[in-house]
Amino acid sequence: MPNRLSAMLVERIRETGPLTVADYMQAALTDPVHGYYVTRDPFGAAGDFITAPEISQIFGELIGLWIADCWDAMGRPRRLKIVELGPGRGTLMADVLRTLRVAPAMLPDPWLIETSPMLRAAQRARIEAQWADSLEDVPPGPMVLIANEFLDALPIRQFSRTEDGWHERLVAATADGSGLEWTLGGTLSRQDAGLPVALDSAEAGDIAETSPAAMALVHGVAARLVRDSGAALFIDYGTTTSRPGDSLQAVRGHQYRDPLDTPGETDLTAHVDFAALAEEAVGAGAVVHGPTPQSLFLESLGIFTRAQVLKRGATPAQSRDIDLAVHRLTAPDQMGSLFKAMALTDPSMPPPAGFP
Ligand SMILES: C[S@@+](CC[C@H](N)C(=O)[O-])C[C@H]1O[C@@H](n2cnc3c(N)ncnc32)[C@H](O)[C@@H]1O
Repeated sequence: MPNRLSAMLVERIRETGPLTVADYMQAALTDPVHGYYVTRDPFGAAGDFITAPEISQIFGELIGLWIADCWDAMGRPRRLKIVELGPGRGTLMADVLRTLRVAPAMLPDPWLIETSPMLRAAQRARIEAQWADSLEDVPPGPMVLIANEFLDALPIRQFSRTEDGWHERLVAATADGSGLEWTLGGTLSRQDAGLPVALDSAEAGDIAETSPAAMALVHGVAARLVRDSGAALFIDYGTTTSRPGDSLQAVRGHQYRDPLDTPGETDLTAHVDFAALAEEAVGAGAVVHGPTPQSLFLESLGIFTRAQVLKRGATPAQSRDIDLAVHRLTAPDQMGSLFKAMALTDPSMPPPAGFP
């Protein structure tokens, strides 16, 4: 049985034709009534996935110190906008703001950009901040922006390479209208598909991805840093070079699912192409640092030292939890390698901490 959103999409496809993967992701994640992020709090053991700030307070504390260091390099502007994209439960911002008490000369001005009314309410219960629908709605001024596992939630387009060229991968309705299935659009050149030159070497059967939404977002962030000064930190899972691969994944209850099953009830994400985003940021005038593996980023900010300090006042059970959390955040077979940190700064700033 298709769910309500699936039936609505079948109807839409009958009227206007197959959807791009981006249109499908947009509807599945943020449909105002049935969208995944609109209807639920997906975090934690009882939810669908767990993110770094929910694993340990150390993650947010280190990012707080990273922000304080950037602020120092920016010449210590009295008021600093701290903007977070996709703040989830607000845990990262809460840990950041607590840590920023180490810099009493700073007046932090926190802004949260969140699409989900339910998550906005969860954030409001924890943090004093202001909310905006997009970065354009945040007033100008020196800024440090942070985004953990945000870019992977932005819609992607997919293209399939066949013997006769590239074809956009589309979502169609099954013949009996009972659900959704994959189909391919007409032939496109690599340029028309908006794919990088590196993909000229792709072979029949390869799938390539672009994220116009992520590119536009990173362009806007970079241009703003150049105009108003500051830094941005993106942490996400992804690749350091643009290469073929189908990274669209659906997760529900910590299990992988079919992305076309039960839209709105599973989280849909894709790997981030850091190489393409870095090029976009440089084109907008910013300086790019990294991407560097999350393990190296956190280690150079002092994750092991901070864990030792926390363990001093901890019970044996709490100590074990701290060790487990640090392992999860840094081990290569956990989040240490797949997750990467990439920073953007305005050209007047020295390289930020964490990017040796
Ligand atoms: C995977 S969660 C990450 C949450 C948080 N950063 C963390 O690390 O726990 C993605 C977050 O981005 C938000 N989000 C997704 N798409 C968005 C969009 N287009 N605009 C603003 N927020 C969005 C979601 O509601 C959610 O808060």
